[in-house]
Parts: sequence; structure tokens; C-alpha cells
Amino acid sequence: MADVDAEDKPQRPSASADKERKEKSSSKKVATSATDLKKIIGGRNLKFEDFDLRATVGTGTFGRVRVVKFKGNPDRTPMALKILKKSEVIRLKQVEHVKAEKQILTMIEHPFIVNLLSTFQDDKRLFMLMEYINGGELFSYLRKEGRLPNDHAKFYGAEIILAFQYLHSMNIVYRDLKPENLLIDSGGHIKITDFGFAKVVEDRTWTLCGTPEYLAPEIIQSKGHGKSVDWWALGILLFEMLAGYPPFYDENPFGIYQKVLAGRIEFPRHFDVKAKDLIKRLLTHDRTKRYGCLKNGAEDIKRHKWYKGTDWDVVFARGLPPPFTPTIKAPDDTSLFDKYPESTEASAPSISPKDQSAFFDDF
Ligand SMILES: Nc1ncnc2c1ncn2[C@@H]1O[C@H](COP(=O)(O)OP(=O)(O)O)[C@@H](O)[C@H]1O
Ligand SMILES: [Mg+2]
Repeated sequence: MADVDAEDKPQRPSASADKERKEKSSSKKVATSATDLKKIIGGRNLKFEDFDLRATVGTGTFGRVRVVKFKGNPDRTPMALKILKKSEVIRLKQVEHVKAEKQILTMIEHPFIVNLLSTFQDDKRLFMLMEYINGGELFSYLRKEGRLPNDHAKFYGAEIILAFQYLHSMNIVYRDLKPENLLIDSGGHIKITDFGFAKVVEDRTWTLCGTPEYLAPEIIQSKGHGKSVDWWALGILLFEMLAGYPPFYDENPFGIYQKVLAGRIEFPRHFDVKAKDLIKRLLTHDRTKRYGCLKNGAEDIKRHKWYKGTDWDVVFARGLPPPFTPTIKAPDDTSLFDKYPESTEASAPSISPKDQSAFFDDF
């Protein structure tokens, strides 16, 4: 059965509507910042029916992310609505993860991390309303380019290093670094999305989660893991950006784990020697020797010779020139994302009142 609701029909303007839109467009307001958006939302109790729906920009295990706008509001700023099916969240035992996702996103604010605007729920679904980042996934850009030049990988790496340093300073481990979760904003800068695996940790934590290619040895070996896993994943990401493929690869997860544990990395010959040195220090099995995990923390990475001459205050201020700025026709442009069949996840089964109060009353 197709899971399509009336409001899911493609919304194509007629030629006259198009003309009208062009004439009106100069008077249409678009909020510029997440702060403006938060003001518009205020203390409102949001519901799904408050939104006009636009394209799906991503799908995941429990649901999808759609671009939305407020119905009948003069502000036409597009936002991203993450829709999760409660039944799937329960079935896949992700209740605690979803709650942590909300809790952590509510706590944080950083130039390279997506802003959460609000959350709400109905009987079947959980909703997270975020700012919409319209430049697409780093994943798509990387696949299109094949691999990135040294300086470009360095730029994206720098922004992620600052975001991780910030998260770790708040005892938050991100645990899901990969190009699919890295969005490019309209200015060409990174925004990390998807805090579905993020966790507040005191020291180490033990759950097996993440994506096989990016898992650190201590996760696979269930030795417990903390902030160190993010620095390992950074090593994988730097390698993948520069090579165009991840360092440990196999058709199936088990094969990947074996390669991670064997720890042999074949660096392509074109790699910059300094990049290679930093990647080796990040992809160090022994986490007591891994860069990022030593007593100077992220500073060791920031002071590594690959980043020689980098002014980290400039990085933080979004002052480094980005490798490219996405070509965006309008704030609600979705052309840089893959196309997905539409749905509102309304076909999800309702959950029992018992499950509701056990799992989601406090979402
Ligand atoms: N704020 C956002 N703006 C634009 N696209 C987004 C945003 N958040 C997520 N996406 C897109 O939706 C995809 C799925 O969202 P994500 O939070 O990663 O869900 P999942 O936990 O299912 O992986 C992302 O890979 C990204 O392409
Ligand atoms: Mg994701």
C-alpha cells in the first residue's frame, strides 16, 4: 500500500501562480536566523497540521525529514521536520536514544551544529523541528567530486574539530560522524545533524551503535568508549574525504570489523604527508595514545602540522573561505538533496496508551 496522504500530492504551482509568486516575492519575509525562528515559534504548542509540507530530504530507519513551512504565516522560512514513527522507535529499542537526541539538541548551540527549534508529538509520531540546511549532504558532494583536494578536506575537518571540542567540553559524545550526517549550509559551511546516537557521558559508555565503516576498535570489542570514538571517526572522515572511500571497507559489516581490528591502512600515494600523519594519529588503536584523547584534548589536533597557520578564532567565526558555496535558487530549494517518494508516516500504527505513558509522555 502506498503511504500517501492528500497533502502529499506534488504541489506544483500553475503558470499564473508562478507569476503571482514572483511579483509578491519581494514582500515575502524569510527569517534569517534560528533565533528569529525561535521567536516566531515562541511558546506555541505545535501540531503537524500547522505546517505546509514540502519535499522529503532524507529518510532513515524510523522515519524521514521533510521541508515544511508554517501554514498561513507571513514568514515563509522553510524548516526541516524530522518525523519518527513511535512504533518503530519502540521496536528498535531507540526510545532512550530519541529522548537523548532531543535533550542534547536542546542544550547546545554552535555555529557548526544544526539548531533544534521545537519538538512535539501525536499518537503515532514524534516530531523534531529544525532549521533547514539547504546545501545538501557532504556525502552527495563527496560522491560527485570523487575525492576532495587537501585544502578542502582540511576546511571541513577544521569546522568539525571545533564542534567536537565544544560537544566534548559538555561531556557529549556524538558517535555518528559520517558524510551523510554533515550538511552544507548556504554559505558553504558545515552543520552537523542527527544526534540520534549522541550521549551525555561521564567517562565511557558501552552500547554498540554507529555505522560499521566508522566504528572505533573499542566499540567493536565492547571495551567501553567515550569521547575517543569521535576522534577515531574524524580520522576515518579525513581519510574518506581525501581518498574518496573509507580506509576499512568490505561488503559486509563483519568484514569491516575484521579490517578495523587488523588496523592496516593503505594510504593512496597522492595523500599529503601531513594529512597522513594526522590520520594515523587519529586512527590509533590504543585510545590512550590517540590524538584528541591525550591530556591536551583537541588542542593536539588543532596544533598538528597539517593545521599549521590556522587561526582557530577565524574558523569559529565562519571566516575561512569555503571550498564551494552551493548554488541555491531559494531558501526552500531541495535540489541538492536526493529525491525520495513522499510520505508523512501517517500509516504508522498507533501505539497503546500504556506504551505512550511508558515511553513518550516525557518527550
Ligand atoms: N536540518 C536539516 N536540514 C536539511 N536536511 C536535513 C536536516 N536534518 C536532516 N536532514 C537530512 O535528512 C537525513 C536524515 O536525517 P537524520 O537526522 O540523519 O536521520 P537518521 O537518524 O534517520 O539518520 C540526513 O542525512 C539529511 O540528509
Ligand atoms: Mg543520519
